[in-house]
Formats: sequence, C-alpha cells, structure tokens
Amino acid sequence: MPQDPFQHLNQYRAAVEERLRTYLRPADGVPAGLREAMLYSLMAPGKRLRPILVVLAAEAAGGAAVAALPAACAVEMVHTYSLIHDDLPAMDDDDLRRGLPTCHKKFGEALAILAGDALLTLAFQVLAEEYPPATASGCILALARGAGMTGMVGGQVLDLAWERGSGGLEDLENIHARKTGALFRACLRIGAWTAQGERPGGPDPDLLDRLDAFGRCFGQAFQITDDLLDVEGDAVQTGKRVGKDAARGKLTYPGVLGRAESRRRADELCRQACELLEPLGPAGQPLAELACLIRQRNH
Ligand code: IPE
Ligand code: IPE
Ligand code: MG
Ligand code: MG
Ligand code: MG
Repeated sequence: MPQDPFQHLNQYRAAVEERLRTYLRPADGVPAGLREAMLYSLMAPGKRLRPILVVLAAEAAGGAAVAALPAACAVEMVHTYSLIHDDLPAMDDDDLRRGLPTCHKKFGEALAILAGDALLTLAFQVLAEEYPPATASGCILALARGAGMTGMVGGQVLDLAWERGSGGLEDLENIHARKTGALFRACLRIGAWTAQGERPGGPDPDLLDRLDAFGRCFGQAFQITDDLLDVEGDAVQTGKRVGKDAARGKLTYPGVLGRAESRRRADELCRQACELLEPLGPAGQPLAELACLIRQRNH
C-alpha cells in the first residue's frame, strides 16, 4: 500500500479526533441511537483535512493549535453532516463512505438525516460555547457562509441540477467553488479568527485575503483530484465507490476536460496555492506543503 502522504499530520489528526470524542460523550437528553449514528460517521476514518487546515491557518496567523481545536472540530462536524446527506438516496445514493457502510445504510434514512442535522447544529453550539463573543461570532459567520445557501449547500444543489446536463467549464468551476471550495475557504478564515483572540476588528484583512486566495486554489485542486479519483481510484483505497460520477452523469473535470488536462490544472492550482503563501515565510510553510500533497493523495 503506498505511503500516506499526510502521515506527518498524524499528531494533528489525533488531537482533533480526541477532541471530537469529547463533544459526543453520552449526555442527558441525547437519544442513544442518535448519538450512535453521529459518532459512527464522525469518528469513521476521514482524512481530517478541513480541521487540519483550521489549525495550520491559526498557526500561520500566529496563534496556537490548541486554541483552534474546538473550531477545527466544528468544521469537521459540518463536513461530516454534508457527507451523510450527500450519500442519501435522494442525492448521490452511495453505500460506502470512509470504508464503511454509509450512515443511512447502517441506521436508516430518517436517523441519517437527523444525525446530519444534529452534527450541523452541534458545530455552531461548540463555537458559541468555546470562544469569547467576538471570536465566536467571526467563526460562526464564516462557517455559516461557507456551509450555507451561497456556499456548500448552494453548490450541492447545482451539482444535482446539472446531473445529465451539458454544462461547460464555467458551470463546473462554479459548482466546485461552492460545493467544496467554500468550506475550505471558511476553514482558513476560521483558523485566523481563533488566532486573534479578541483583537478589535478581527484578523488582519491582508492575511485573510491571502488565505482566501490560497483556499480557492486549494479547494479547486482538491475537488479536481476527487473527480479524478472517481475515475482512476479504487474503492479499497478511497473508501467510497468509484465510477459513480459518470454513471450519474455528473459534471466533472475529467468529464469536461479529460484526465490529462484535469491533472495539469490541478497541478497548476497547487503551484499557485504555494506561491500565494510565500510572503508569509516559515509560518505559511506547513499550509503550502499541504497544498503540494493534495495531488499525491489516493484516498
Ligand atoms: C469528500 O471529502 C467530499 C468532497 C468534498 C469531495 P474528503 O475527501 O475530505 O473526505 P474525508 O473527510 O477524508 O472522508
Ligand atoms: C461532495 O462531493 C461534496 C460535499 C459533500 C459537500 P462529491 O459527491 O463528489 O463527494 P464524494 O465523492 O461523494 O465524496
Ligand atoms: Mg455529491
Ligand atoms: Mg457524493
Ligand atoms: Mg466525488
């Protein structure tokens, strides 16, 4: 089995996972079946790229990893909810996720929908409970915008609307930027917020702009790679079914531009992402390295 390109980030992943568990400890009033379904999907072996981005962005902004952890967990909760719903029969109708049966296959559709709803809601509860007011509100705004109707949910609607359609590159870029890019960009903004404490006015706008531009490139390269893995990868390595995009008539990069041009674009976007962080010096190095690894992933 090829080496995991994200191995050096294992420490971050472990810290995120330990913290995630604490938010789902048994608690009064939480139905056991609901908690079980939330825990099943949340603790399944994901790459944890979004929470790691939150932490690395916090460090790039001069903050501490530990202060970024609750926000990192909040983003992973939103991401996991999006995966649960993405897999539902009414959406991509998938039976395998993170190497395991999808949430609705294991717990039924109703509980899967509700586990997703509860994870989404818990994310905002964590932000409100764990941070002082200005930081909490900065993070909540970024997460709501990234996840909501002009961000991820909007992108998911477009993704479904274009199934079997004959869209072009512009439509495709719009879908990718929303369904995947918007949450990645939110991660970077949220990381910067957790680093700022209660500094009036929030994070430095120039830093936010730079991180945002990085996030755009990163997100696009990430989703192009996801599309390529659906064509070239296998279910054992990716932990999800492959060949589904073409079967459902999705608008994808390999479908519109072919595999070679998709790879070229993704490589170019990663190069741009790294270049954007050069002015940050060593503080931006770990984020830049993560962008270089996006193209090497096989899951
Ligand atoms: C999968 O995201 C969904 C997309 C946006 C393409 P990831 O590939 O980050 O999934 P996990 O979290 O590692 O399972
Ligand atoms: C899903 O994109 C994006 C979100 C969950 C928001 P895909 O449908 O391509 O993700 P996979 O391939 O099922 O992981
Ligand atoms: Mg989908
Ligand atoms: Mg899907
Ligand atoms: Mg996909």
